[in-house]
Amino acid sequence: MEKLVRIKRLTLKNPFIASSGTCGYANVEEIPLHLFGAAVTKTITFTPREGNRPPRLAETPAGLINSIGLQNMGLSAFKTFLQDFVKPTTLLVSVGGETPEEFSSILHELSKYDIIDGFELNLSCPNLRLGGEVVGKDYISVSTILDACVKATNKPILVKLSPFTEELGKILDYWEPLLEGFVLFNTFPAMEIDLKSGQPLLGAVSGGLSGPAIYPIVLNSVYKHKDHTIIASGGIASPQIAQKFILAGAKALEIGTANLWNPEFIKSLVSEEE
Ligand SMILES: Cc1cc2nc3c(=O)[nH]c(=O)nc-3n(C[C@H](O)[C@H](O)[C@H](O)COP(=O)(O)O)c2cc1C
Repeated sequence: MEKLVRIKRLTLKNPFIASSGTCGYANVEEIPLHLFGAAVTKTITFTPREGNRPPRLAETPAGLINSIGLQNMGLSAFKTFLQDFVKPTTLLVSVGGETPEEFSSILHELSKYDIIDGFELNLSCPNLRLGGEVVGKDYISVSTILDACVKATNKPILVKLSPFTEELGKILDYWEPLLEGFVLFNTFPAMEIDLKSGQPLLGAVSGGLSGPAIYPIVLNSVYKHKDHTIIASGGIASPQIAQKFILAGAKALEIGTANLWNPEFIKSLVSEEE
Protein backbone atom coordinates (compact mmCIF):
# COMPACT_ATOMS: atom_id res chain seq x y z
CA MET A 1 0.00 0.00 0.00
CA GLU A 2 1.33 3.41 -0.87
CA LYS A 3 1.44 6.16 1.68
CA LEU A 4 0.14 9.54 0.48
CA VAL A 5 2.25 12.49 1.53
CA ARG A 6 0.94 16.01 1.55
CA ILE A 7 3.66 18.67 1.54
CA LYS A 8 1.66 21.87 1.10
CA ARG A 9 0.07 22.14 -2.33
CA LEU A 10 1.75 18.98 -3.62
CA THR A 11 0.36 15.57 -2.77
CA LEU A 12 2.72 12.68 -3.53
CA LYS A 13 1.78 9.00 -3.58
CA ASN A 14 4.77 8.30 -1.30
CA PRO A 15 7.57 10.41 0.24
CA PHE A 16 10.29 9.29 -2.20
CA ILE A 17 11.53 11.69 -4.87
CA ALA A 18 14.11 10.83 -7.53
CA SER A 19 16.83 13.52 -7.26
CA SER A 20 17.88 15.94 -9.94
CA GLY A 21 20.73 14.68 -12.10
CA THR A 22 20.21 11.02 -11.28
CA CYS A 23 17.16 10.23 -13.46
CA GLY A 24 17.83 12.24 -16.63
CA TYR A 25 14.84 14.41 -17.55
CA ALA A 26 12.65 12.08 -15.44
CA ASN A 27 12.93 9.73 -18.41
CA VAL A 28 15.60 7.14 -17.49
CA GLU A 29 13.94 3.85 -18.34
CA GLU A 30 16.23 1.64 -16.21
CA ILE A 31 14.88 3.33 -13.05
CA PRO A 32 11.22 2.45 -12.25
CA LEU A 33 10.34 6.12 -11.83
CA HIS A 34 6.60 5.38 -11.57
CA LEU A 35 7.32 3.95 -8.11
CA PHE A 36 8.52 7.33 -6.82
CA GLY A 37 6.21 9.97 -5.36
CA ALA A 38 7.90 12.46 -7.72
CA ALA A 39 10.89 12.79 -10.03
CA VAL A 40 13.08 15.88 -10.50
CA THR A 41 14.65 16.56 -13.89
CA LYS A 42 18.28 17.36 -14.49
CA THR A 43 18.78 21.08 -13.84
CA ILE A 44 17.64 23.12 -16.86
CA THR A 45 19.48 26.33 -17.70
CA PHE A 46 18.51 29.06 -20.15
CA THR A 47 21.07 27.97 -22.74
CA PRO A 48 22.39 24.42 -23.26
CA ARG A 49 25.54 23.46 -21.32
CA GLU A 50 28.16 20.93 -22.28
CA GLY A 51 29.34 20.37 -18.73
CA ASN A 52 32.84 19.89 -17.35
CA ARG A 53 35.91 18.17 -18.71
CA PRO A 54 36.07 14.38 -18.01
CA PRO A 55 36.65 12.45 -15.83
CA ARG A 56 33.48 13.62 -14.09
CA LEU A 57 32.92 10.88 -11.51
CA ALA A 58 35.11 9.57 -8.70
CA GLU A 59 34.07 6.77 -6.36
CA THR A 60 35.14 7.12 -2.70
CA PRO A 61 34.72 4.61 0.16
CA ALA A 62 31.27 5.93 1.13
CA GLY A 63 30.14 8.17 -1.69
CA LEU A 64 30.49 9.54 -5.16
CA ILE A 65 32.11 12.79 -6.26
CA ASN A 66 30.63 14.25 -9.43
CA SER A 67 31.62 17.24 -11.49
CA ILE A 68 29.04 16.97 -14.27
CA GLY A 69 28.88 20.77 -14.44
CA LEU A 70 25.16 21.19 -15.15
CA GLN A 71 25.29 19.56 -18.58
CA ASN A 72 21.78 19.92 -20.00
CA MET A 73 19.80 20.55 -23.21
CA GLY A 74 18.78 24.11 -22.32
CA LEU A 75 15.31 25.67 -22.09
CA SER A 76 14.36 25.68 -25.74
CA ALA A 77 15.15 21.98 -26.40
CA PHE A 78 13.50 21.08 -23.09
CA LYS A 79 10.26 22.74 -24.23
CA THR A 80 10.35 20.62 -27.38
CA PHE A 81 11.09 17.51 -25.29
CA LEU A 82 8.02 18.20 -23.12
CA GLN A 83 5.66 18.24 -26.10
CA ASP A 84 5.32 14.48 -26.30
CA PHE A 85 6.73 13.48 -22.93
CA VAL A 86 4.60 11.15 -20.82
CA LYS A 87 5.57 11.67 -17.20
CA PRO A 88 6.05 8.60 -15.02
CA THR A 89 4.97 10.35 -11.79
CA THR A 90 4.64 13.86 -10.34
CA LEU A 91 7.05 15.98 -12.36
CA LEU A 92 9.30 18.59 -10.78
CA VAL A 93 11.61 20.58 -13.01
CA SER A 94 14.96 21.63 -11.60
CA VAL A 95 15.92 25.13 -12.69
CA GLY A 96 19.36 26.74 -12.58
CA GLY A 97 20.91 30.03 -13.56
CA GLU A 98 23.41 32.68 -12.64
CA THR A 99 21.05 35.62 -12.22
CA PRO A 100 17.55 36.13 -10.78
CA GLU A 101 16.38 37.01 -14.31
CA GLU A 102 17.62 33.68 -15.71
CA PHE A 103 15.72 31.78 -13.02
CA SER A 104 12.54 33.80 -13.37
CA SER A 105 12.41 33.70 -17.15
CA ILE A 106 12.75 29.90 -17.17
CA LEU A 107 9.96 29.64 -14.59
CA HIS A 108 7.77 32.02 -16.56
CA GLU A 109 8.25 30.04 -19.80
CA LEU A 110 7.73 26.62 -18.22
CA SER A 111 4.70 27.63 -16.15
CA LYS A 112 2.59 27.29 -19.31
CA TYR A 113 3.10 23.50 -19.30
CA ASP A 114 0.38 21.61 -17.43
CA ILE A 115 2.56 18.49 -17.34
CA ILE A 116 4.88 20.24 -14.84
CA ASP A 117 3.68 19.96 -11.23
CA GLY A 118 6.27 22.23 -9.65
CA PHE A 119 9.81 23.54 -9.69
CA GLU A 120 12.96 22.90 -7.71
CA LEU A 121 15.38 25.83 -7.78
CA ASN A 122 18.99 24.70 -7.77
CA LEU A 123 20.66 27.47 -5.79
CA SER A 124 23.96 25.57 -5.77
CA CYS A 125 24.73 26.66 -9.33
CA PRO A 126 28.13 28.33 -9.51
CA ASN A 127 28.11 32.00 -10.36
CA LEU A 128 31.05 32.23 -12.73
CA ARG A 129 30.97 36.01 -12.65
CA LEU A 130 31.55 35.86 -8.89
CA GLY A 131 34.45 33.41 -9.03
CA GLY A 132 32.31 30.25 -8.97
CA GLU A 133 30.59 30.88 -5.64
CA VAL A 134 27.13 29.30 -5.41
CA VAL A 135 24.31 31.63 -6.48
CA GLY A 136 22.44 31.02 -3.22
CA LYS A 137 25.32 31.93 -0.93
CA ASP A 138 23.46 33.80 1.82
CA TYR A 139 20.15 35.41 2.79
CA ILE A 140 20.49 38.34 0.37
CA SER A 141 21.51 36.31 -2.68
CA VAL A 142 18.89 33.61 -2.01
CA SER A 143 16.18 36.23 -1.42
CA THR A 144 17.01 38.18 -4.57
CA ILE A 145 16.49 35.03 -6.65
CA LEU A 146 13.36 33.96 -4.76
CA ASP A 147 11.77 37.41 -5.01
CA ALA A 148 11.99 37.14 -8.79
CA CYS A 149 10.86 33.48 -8.87
CA VAL A 150 7.70 33.74 -6.76
CA LYS A 151 6.45 36.48 -9.10
CA ALA A 152 7.18 34.35 -12.18
CA THR A 153 5.01 31.28 -11.47
CA ASN A 154 1.93 30.08 -9.63
CA LYS A 155 3.26 26.53 -9.45
CA PRO A 156 4.74 25.16 -6.21
CA ILE A 157 8.43 26.00 -5.69
CA LEU A 158 10.96 23.94 -3.78
CA VAL A 159 14.32 25.52 -3.06
CA LYS A 160 17.38 23.30 -3.00
CA LEU A 161 20.22 24.80 -1.01
CA SER A 162 23.92 24.23 -0.78
CA PRO A 163 25.10 22.78 2.58
CA PHE A 164 27.24 25.85 3.25
CA THR A 165 24.48 28.41 2.72
CA GLU A 166 24.99 31.18 5.25
CA GLU A 167 22.09 32.41 7.43
CA LEU A 168 20.10 29.23 6.77
CA GLY A 169 17.74 29.77 9.72
CA LYS A 170 16.90 33.29 8.55
CA ILE A 171 16.23 32.03 5.01
CA LEU A 172 13.92 29.27 6.25
CA ASP A 173 12.02 31.60 8.60
CA TYR A 174 11.39 34.29 6.00
CA TRP A 175 10.61 32.08 2.99
CA GLU A 176 8.60 29.27 4.66
CA PRO A 177 5.16 30.81 4.01
CA LEU A 178 5.96 31.64 0.39
CA LEU A 179 7.38 28.33 -0.83
CA GLU A 180 6.41 24.67 -1.01
CA GLY A 181 9.51 23.59 0.92
CA PHE A 182 13.29 23.45 1.24
CA VAL A 183 15.53 20.68 -0.05
CA LEU A 184 18.50 20.18 2.29
CA PHE A 185 21.04 19.74 0.63
CA ASN A 186 22.87 19.56 -2.65
CA THR A 187 26.29 17.86 -2.73
CA PHE A 188 29.28 18.86 -0.56
CA PRO A 189 32.42 20.33 -2.20
CA ALA A 190 35.06 17.60 -2.48
CA MET A 191 37.97 16.26 -4.51
CA GLU A 192 39.97 13.07 -5.09
CA ILE A 193 43.63 12.54 -6.00
CA ASP A 194 44.78 9.82 -8.37
CA LEU A 195 47.75 8.11 -6.71
CA LYS A 196 49.16 6.89 -10.03
CA SER A 197 49.48 10.35 -11.57
CA GLY A 198 49.64 12.27 -8.30
CA GLN A 199 47.09 14.65 -9.85
CA PRO A 200 43.46 15.52 -9.09
CA LEU A 201 41.29 12.75 -10.50
CA LEU A 202 38.43 14.91 -11.80
CA GLY A 203 38.87 16.99 -14.93
CA ALA A 204 37.37 19.97 -13.09
CA VAL A 205 39.57 19.22 -10.00
CA SER A 206 36.68 19.70 -7.54
CA GLY A 207 33.20 18.22 -7.55
CA GLY A 208 30.35 17.46 -5.18
CA LEU A 209 30.24 14.56 -2.74
CA SER A 210 27.00 12.58 -2.44
CA GLY A 211 26.06 9.21 -0.99
CA PRO A 212 26.11 7.73 2.53
CA ALA A 213 29.25 9.69 3.52
CA ILE A 214 27.15 12.84 3.89
CA TYR A 215 23.95 11.54 5.47
CA PRO A 216 24.77 12.18 9.17
CA ILE A 217 25.64 15.81 8.38
CA VAL A 218 22.41 16.29 6.46
CA LEU A 219 20.46 14.46 9.18
CA ASN A 220 21.80 16.95 11.73
CA SER A 221 20.48 19.91 9.72
CA VAL A 222 17.15 18.28 8.95
CA TYR A 223 16.57 17.61 12.65
CA LYS A 224 17.66 21.11 13.62
CA HIS A 225 15.21 22.67 11.15
CA LYS A 226 12.40 20.12 11.50
CA ASP A 227 9.84 22.82 12.27
CA HIS A 228 10.14 23.92 8.65
CA THR A 229 9.01 22.05 5.55
CA ILE A 230 12.16 20.08 4.83
CA ILE A 231 12.81 17.59 2.07
CA ALA A 232 15.96 15.63 2.87
CA SER A 233 18.61 15.00 0.24
CA GLY A 234 21.92 13.36 1.00
CA GLY A 235 23.01 9.78 1.34
CA ILE A 236 19.65 8.04 1.47
CA ALA A 237 20.96 4.69 0.30
CA SER A 238 19.18 2.19 2.55
CA PRO A 239 15.68 1.79 4.03
CA GLN A 240 17.21 2.37 7.47
CA ILE A 241 18.71 5.73 6.50
CA ALA A 242 15.38 6.71 4.91
CA GLN A 243 13.62 5.86 8.18
CA LYS A 244 16.09 8.03 10.14
CA PHE A 245 15.26 11.06 7.99
CA ILE A 246 11.54 10.53 8.52
CA LEU A 247 12.16 10.30 12.28
CA ALA A 248 14.25 13.48 12.09
CA GLY A 249 11.23 15.31 10.69
CA ALA A 250 11.70 15.35 6.90
CA LYS A 251 8.42 15.64 4.96
CA ALA A 252 9.82 13.82 1.92
CA LEU A 253 13.11 12.22 0.87
CA GLU A 254 15.17 12.64 -2.26
CA ILE A 255 17.11 9.67 -3.57
CA GLY A 256 20.08 10.31 -5.84
CA THR A 257 23.30 8.30 -5.78
CA ALA A 258 21.44 5.16 -4.68
CA ASN A 259 19.60 5.19 -8.05
CA LEU A 260 22.93 5.26 -9.87
CA TRP A 261 24.36 2.41 -7.82
CA ASN A 262 21.20 0.33 -8.10
CA PRO A 263 18.47 1.55 -10.49
CA GLU A 264 15.92 -0.64 -8.66
CA PHE A 265 16.81 0.75 -5.21
CA ILE A 266 13.34 2.35 -4.90
CA LYS A 267 11.83 -1.14 -4.70
CA SER A 268 13.49 -1.64 -1.31
CA LEU A 269 11.86 1.57 -0.01
CA VAL A 270 8.44 0.99 -1.42
CA SER A 271 8.27 -2.54 0.00
CA GLU A 272 9.51 -1.13 3.31
CA GLU A 273 6.43 1.12 3.28
CA GLU A 274 4.01 -1.78 2.80
C1 LIG B 1 25.75 12.48 -11.10
C2 LIG B 1 25.00 13.51 -10.31
C3 LIG B 1 24.42 14.61 -10.96
C4 LIG B 1 23.72 15.58 -10.25
N1 LIG B 1 23.14 16.63 -10.91
C5 LIG B 1 22.39 17.54 -10.22
C6 LIG B 1 21.71 18.58 -10.90
O1 LIG B 1 21.73 18.71 -12.13
N2 LIG B 1 21.01 19.46 -10.14
C7 LIG B 1 20.90 19.36 -8.77
O2 LIG B 1 20.22 20.18 -8.15
N3 LIG B 1 21.52 18.36 -8.11
C8 LIG B 1 22.25 17.46 -8.79
N4 LIG B 1 22.87 16.43 -8.13
C9 LIG B 1 22.72 16.34 -6.66
C10 LIG B 1 21.62 15.34 -6.29
O3 LIG B 1 20.37 15.74 -6.82
C11 LIG B 1 21.51 15.17 -4.76
O4 LIG B 1 21.03 16.36 -4.18
C12 LIG B 1 22.84 14.82 -4.11
O5 LIG B 1 23.52 13.86 -4.90
C13 LIG B 1 22.70 14.29 -2.69
O6 LIG B 1 21.86 13.17 -2.64
P1 LIG B 1 22.37 11.63 -2.71
O7 LIG B 1 23.42 11.48 -1.66
O8 LIG B 1 21.14 10.82 -2.48
O9 LIG B 1 22.93 11.45 -4.07
C14 LIG B 1 23.59 15.45 -8.84
C15 LIG B 1 24.16 14.35 -8.17
C16 LIG B 1 24.86 13.38 -8.89
C17 LIG B 1 25.44 12.21 -8.15
